[in-house]
Amino acid sequence: MNITDMSPPFWAFAWPGGEALALHVEQNPELVAGKRVLDFGSGCGLAAIVCARAGAAVQAADTDRLARAAIRLNAAANEVDVEVLEGDVTGADCRWDVILAGDVFYEKTMTGHILPWLTACATAATVIAADPGRAYAPRSGVTEIARYVVPVSRELEDRDERLVRLLRLLRRGE
Ligand SMILES: C[S@@+](CC[C@H](N)C(=O)[O-])C[C@H]1O[C@@H](n2cnc3c(N)ncnc32)[C@H](O)[C@@H]1O
Repeated sequence: MNITDMSPPFWAFAWPGGEALALHVEQNPELVAGKRVLDFGSGCGLAAIVCARAGAAVQAADTDRLARAAIRLNAAANEVDVEVLEGDVTGADCRWDVILAGDVFYEKTMTGHILPWLTACATAATVIAADPGRAYAPRSGVTEIARYVVPVSRELEDRDERLVRLLRLLRRGE
């Protein structure tokens, strides 16, 4: 495949979910400071970088090889430490205090793969998904903790801004 044939690559943009997570962490640094944080589906690494700046020990996961390269470059450019994990962490034991997942519910198959794991992780970690209204975002088992209106690119969206809801996944029985 020629690189010019690619649809807009995930890692080349801050998606609305990542933007909202970054804003939320900037305004609430105590959420992540001193904690082990996973930025799941990190894309360009924006949320991971903001968490590192806030004093978190950050790992970033993305199944896209080019995204992982972009996260490393963006973290270096911002002079923060972000450990980039190889492969698919879905199914791994939860070893984080906080998991952030920006804009990851846009495909049915993908959501079916990741949502059960993210939900299981909510027993041990604070799991926050940032959803700009994607079709497969969970409608139950979550509680809205914040909302942000963020600017978006016309290269990605049919509008100039999007409302993003931050959803904390509930623990079983909560
Ligand atoms: C729409 S992008 C969002 C990127 C970033 N969170 C943001 O909001 O800017 C979704 C990302 O999830 C990644 N992804 C898809 N399946 C994944 C999986 N099983 N584990 C980790 N990342 C995954 C994609 O490669 C892509 O980079």
